[in-house]
Amino acid sequence: MSEEKKDDKLMEKIVSFAKRRGFVFGSSEIYGGFAAVYDFGPYGTELAKNIREAWWKAMVQENDNIVGLDSSIFMHPKVWEASGHVGGFSDPLSECKQCHSRVRVDHLLEDAGVFADEKMTEEEINILLVENKEKLRCPKCGSSDFSESKNFNLLVQSNLGNFTGDWDKEPTYLRGETCQGIYINFKNVMDSTRVKVPFGIAQVGKAFRNEITARQFIFRKREFEQMEMQMFVHPDDAMEMYEQWREKRWQYYLDLGIKEENLKWHEHENLVFYAKAAWDIEYKFPFGFKELEGVHARGDYDLTQHAKHSGKKLEYRNPQTNEVFVPHVVETSVGVDRTFLAVLTDSYVEEDLGEGKSRTVLKLPVNLAPVKVAVFPLMKNKPELVAKAREVFDELKMQYMCEFDDNGNVGKRYRRQDEIGTPYCVTIDFNTLETGIVTVRNRDTMEQENVNLENLQKYLADKLK
Ligand code: GAP
Repeated sequence: MSEEKKDDKLMEKIVSFAKRRGFVFGSSEIYGGFAAVYDFGPYGTELAKNIREAWWKAMVQENDNIVGLDSSIFMHPKVWEASGHVGGFSDPLSECKQCHSRVRVDHLLEDAGVFADEKMTEEEINILLVENKEKLRCPKCGSSDFSESKNFNLLVQSNLGNFTGDWDKEPTYLRGETCQGIYINFKNVMDSTRVKVPFGIAQVGKAFRNEITARQFIFRKREFEQMEMQMFVHPDDAMEMYEQWREKRWQYYLDLGIKEENLKWHEHENLVFYAKAAWDIEYKFPFGFKELEGVHARGDYDLTQHAKHSGKKLEYRNPQTNEVFVPHVVETSVGVDRTFLAVLTDSYVEEDLGEGKSRTVLKLPVNLAPVKVAVFPLMKNKPELVAKAREVFDELKMQYMCEFDDNGNVGKRYRRQDEIGTPYCVTIDFNTLETGIVTVRNRDTMEQENVNLENLQKYLADKLK
């Protein structure tokens, strides 16, 4: 259980801020909403895109032995039998007898300080449920009266290609994790590229799970996005590679600007039988430290299972030694949505400016900021200022996501840009028309600098590197 105090106020603030400023909307709101499904608004779409790009750069661009993949959401149903998801991918759920809401029993137990996880058997969970009855509270109504816990499969089913009335007897699945698409393309990637073990395959894409959620916003969604990398290594090198990736992934979050005190490692106490090691990087969300990313040493389980179920060899022949072996897998797996929430939480600041003034500012690193530069004419009713500002804007937008704003006074425009995390605001005033000098204002220091228009591109390129 996390020993940290929950910060419900901060959570409420972030949820309402995310909606008000166009980062995250609840899905289907005009129809009353749709539980645990969310949409990214205009600024959220930019932030999510920048998060994907930062991950892709750190994985595929910066490592010459990692290649990308974009496999389909639908796969042959046998994939999910081979992976073990049809038989064993489930959450322990119980019903509150008072308000009839469904609850995750492992989460209830954890919140009461009792170790439990979704890998336990129904019997083990039910023993804990009875033993700790008095400590457990329904998050909705506070009752301690729960039905017996049952395991419910998390895979989302589809009738794709099956037009019979009882399609659910042989369903297709929306993928529950993206990495299965990587395993089943292991041979294709090897045969079509010059990769040599150790090599990795990286992929970003949607995944779907029947989650029961307890007001954790985009932390636990039914439709979410994963960024997964599977490194295929010689069995003897697997644990060394694993340690290297633990270090790299920790450093990645620091490079992303996440405060180190808000990160910690958590070792899985209850490993699945095939795993050699599993650690999570946890982030201090407003509801406590929770999993952000998993780094797993999965042994040869995945390739062996798919080889067995498909009848195809999934092996590697070392071209120098001719040794043939089934590579072991080191996996790094993180959600776009969880990174998004971690980044929002980490960068959301309410600053007291003295004299009764304050501002909300998103102190995002420049590579993640949805808008990099905002351009303002000092006054909107002076056509010559507006025309010059448009000219500057039209030039800058070819390089960066930019925003043109002539609404309200400049102070209000700064506040609006601070809230969405825009690192630089450029103001065109009468002096610009005479001397070519613009004012560039820094989001974090709020200091203003005079920059000649001739040097503006270079100035911004240096700052936005
Ligand atoms: N292939 C391994 C795997 O899928 P996981 O721990 O189930 O492992 C990996 O998921 C990551 O995917 C998590 O650390 C989290 O960042 C993200 N994730 C998992 N379930 C999610 C959900 N329901 N909503 C949002 N993100 C989720």
